[in-house]
Amino acid sequence: MTFLDLIKTRQSDRKYLDKPVEKEKIERCLEAARLAPSATNSQPWEFIVVSNPDLKNKVAHATYSSLIKFNRWVPTAPVLVVLNTWKPELHITLGGILKNRQFNLIDVGIVAEHFCLQAAEEGLGTCMLGWFQTKKIMKLLNIKAPKKPALVITLGYSGHTHIRDKKRKNLDEIRKYM
Ligand SMILES: Cc1cc2nc3c(=O)[nH]c(=O)nc-3n(C[C@H](O)[C@H](O)[C@H](O)COP(=O)(O)O)c2cc1C
Repeated sequence: MTFLDLIKTRQSDRKYLDKPVEKEKIERCLEAARLAPSATNSQPWEFIVVSNPDLKNKVAHATYSSLIKFNRWVPTAPVLVVLNTWKPELHITLGGILKNRQFNLIDVGIVAEHFCLQAAEEGLGTCMLGWFQTKKIMKLLNIKAPKKPALVITLGYSGHTHIRDKKRKNLDEIRKYM
């Protein structure tokens, strides 16, 4: 499989089989994430892998609410990975502050995609979740400020049988050579 083919197999999976995920596979996803680049190599990330069914379901229930319901499928995922971030120390972030950019959030996006692409390589499905109840998750997992969950990633064997076509803008709309 070429790298481009691998990218095409990654999709947001919103239905999972009731099948545990092998620890070696999770470890390889984390290793792929560990090797991600970050601004000034600050690596402002930490992963909490939640697979204990009770705790996992509690975290899953914190990814939706009575008002915001679109993540109601999350409890089907056997594993949830909570990706924490924080603003690195002042001397590291100074460049970002001067430019009004939060580099750690850029870093988190990169590390999350490393994780998800390795998961695709392992035959596993993922979905990054940006909507969740931050305070609830921090309490459940004893996450203390300045650390904060930036994303929750669902992980498991996909319950979908086919890869959807990607709905994306055409290259002509987003590319410019100068
Ligand atoms: C930062 C971020 C936050 C997202 N949050 C959610 C979410 O809360 N719930 C969800 O179902 N999908 C979420 N997604 C998945 C996107 O909807 C999905 O990536 C996009 O529609 C493209 O589809 P694909 O991943 O299948 O290619 C999120 C994706 C990203 C990158």
